[in-house]
Amino acid sequence: MIKFANEKMDRNAPCWCGSGKKYKHCHEAFDEKIREFELKGAVVPDRSLIKTPRDIEGIKASAKINIAVLDEVGSKIHAGMTTQEIDDIVYNTTVKMGGIPADLHYEGYPKSVCTSINDQVCHGIPSKDVVLKDGDIVNVDCSTILNGFFSDSSRMFCIGNVDPSWKKLVDVTKECVQIGLEHVIPWTYLGDMGNAVHQHALDNGYSVVREIGGHGCGLEFHEDPYVSYVSLPGTEMLMVPGMVFTIEPMVNMGTDEIFQDEGNGWSIYTVDGKPSAQWEIQVLVTETGHEVLSY
Ligand code: MF3
Ligand code: CO
Repeated sequence: MIKFANEKMDRNAPCWCGSGKKYKHCHEAFDEKIREFELKGAVVPDRSLIKTPRDIEGIKASAKINIAVLDEVGSKIHAGMTTQEIDDIVYNTTVKMGGIPADLHYEGYPKSVCTSINDQVCHGIPSKDVVLKDGDIVNVDCSTILNGFFSDSSRMFCIGNVDPSWKKLVDVTKECVQIGLEHVIPWTYLGDMGNAVHQHALDNGYSVVREIGGHGCGLEFHEDPYVSYVSLPGTEMLMVPGMVFTIEPMVNMGTDEIFQDEGNGWSIYTVDGKPSAQWEIQVLVTETGHEVLSY
């Protein structure tokens, strides 16, 4: 017996999406299509993961701040600056625009942004003791709340003269995200997308972190589904119009093995000390393909 993700509804009742239309004139066909995939054994989203037009407007307004904050960091970042100064820019710019940094106090996280340098894979904690130096590659991962709507994206910054092999890692990781985006096609699988990301990293001699990935995002910071970038075609959740999730692979120059800093309980490093890069975008699945909400 299949336990379906979505309950059957009275065809004449108002649609679950809040459009005010009768279900039979709104999402009934959509739900039927999902059910057909489910009967074939697919993992499918339940209704809580489908954003309404109103949700999407809210997420876009949040993303406007998210993007502006990263633009501001990009215009100010330089060698000799501390990562605390980046945190200050993120906090001040976010608050000035009416938002809240989603990272701050999230599960006890102490700062407003993550700044992960070189062999730091993710969750680097800003500090007045950490100074950016010539040749560093740094990921700035920024998450924003506005009126209860969440946005999440990150970018890499190359500080001064970066070794060409490190610059290539940064560039290929960005290509991985672009290739992933091209595979965000409704009624195909997250595993199709994740596999395309993985393959491009492998083709360049890199590895992809397995234990940490992307996530649904919008009404909460981290929603279902978990989004892997080491997944196989035809596996993982079906991508359905209205879903919003992040594409954020962590690509390592060397081994995919990582460890957590036991001192702070947050920061993740590569085991071999080689660099890691990450870019993150937040994407909406549409009827015809996708729309990038934050980057
Ligand atoms: N922004 C990260 C993500 O992409 C999450 C950071 S959580 C924090 O999902 F607490 F470390 F900030
Ligand atoms: Co994220």
